[in-house]
Amino acid sequence: VTPGLADLVTPALVLDLDVLEANIGRMAERFAALPAELRPHVKAHKSSRIARLQCDAGAIGVTAATTAEALAMVAAGVGDVLIANQIVSEPQLARLASAAAEARIAVAVDDAVQVEAASRAGRRAGAIVGIVIEVDVGMGRAGARSPAEAVSLAELAARLPGVDLRGVMGYEGHCTDEPDRARRTVAATAAVEILAAAAAELERASLPCGIVSAGGTGTYDVTGACPGVTEVQAGTYAIMDEFHRAVTPEFGSALTVLATVTSLHGSLVVLDAGRKAIAADLAAPRVVGREAHVEFVHEEHSGFRVDGSGLRIGDRVSLAPGYAPSAVNLHAAYNVVRNGTLVDTWPVEARYSSAPTALA
Ligand SMILES: Cc1ncc(COP(=O)(O)O)c(C=O)c1O
Repeated sequence: VTPGLADLVTPALVLDLDVLEANIGRMAERFAALPAELRPHVKAHKSSRIARLQCDAGAIGVTAATTAEALAMVAAGVGDVLIANQIVSEPQLARLASAAAEARIAVAVDDAVQVEAASRAGRRAGAIVGIVIEVDVGMGRAGARSPAEAVSLAELAARLPGVDLRGVMGYEGHCTDEPDRARRTVAATAAVEILAAAAAELERASLPCGIVSAGGTGTYDVTGACPGVTEVQAGTYAIMDEFHRAVTPEFGSALTVLATVTSLHGSLVVLDAGRKAIAADLAAPRVVGREAHVEFVHEEHSGFRVDGSGLRIGDRVSLAPGYAPSAVNLHAAYNVVRNGTLVDTWPVEARYSSAPTALA
């Protein structure tokens, strides 16, 4: 007998295929009407199955945060990966350079040290590693701090062997969760103007700048409409979480964690899914389909106030995680559901590992 949803041991990561497909379809429709292309970030879902559905719907490739994510995508046949992050260790760059023989791979840089390291790796592998200059657009994390700094890195990337200058990227992460749409639009537009100014400087210096990449789920439509932006890195929209639902309610909660009621005290419902199953950063989890107020999220438990719930010990409850990228990374696999029926299991790929051979 094939195991069903009721046979799952909780807490279990669940992915609703109908909602996932609807989200991917909706985003593809939006991008059909926007000047920019979609290059979804895979850091949230860490799944080449989901990445391939996104590419089949028109995405031009994927964005990744880590070497392991990028390699998992290439191994599954995704042909174009942008690592929106600085990769500086030699073993990681060597693996990326050898993957660059079978796929188009680019890494983001904000220092000459990273460009030189990528160049060495590319030369050794006899391959070309793409270079995208990261520009700080106001978040204050990584990125060149001025157009002049971006141009000088671009000149180096254009000059060195083993690398190929592809363009610029920036991430307006300081704007993506602004709940007021008008304010979010103003802030994201101002951030993207910083990136566009750097791109214009590269062009003035006759440096190639085919890629101008930015944006996330919270800003996809604003950033995707900004003049000069060629691609958008939004990714969580496919599976969703509470953090992103606050700003983009047009996407459905495809990702949930199935939990069991383990203890009941008046209106307090205690579940077997705590921080080790749903994580607990950036936003609180939500009980799906019930009015519930989160009381606590502990290591192995979460507690919700639910009036007149009729719940009993042993009942199952679905939780929508607060922040999908953290929740997914805690699980080895998705239980894939269609129409309420368990239909498949998909691995969560490229999870963090401290094994000596791991590449994180
Ligand atoms: C570099 C980068 N690009 C894009 C995103 C947006 O991803 P999402 O669509 O999941 O919000 C993030 C999120 O942290 C990011 O760090």
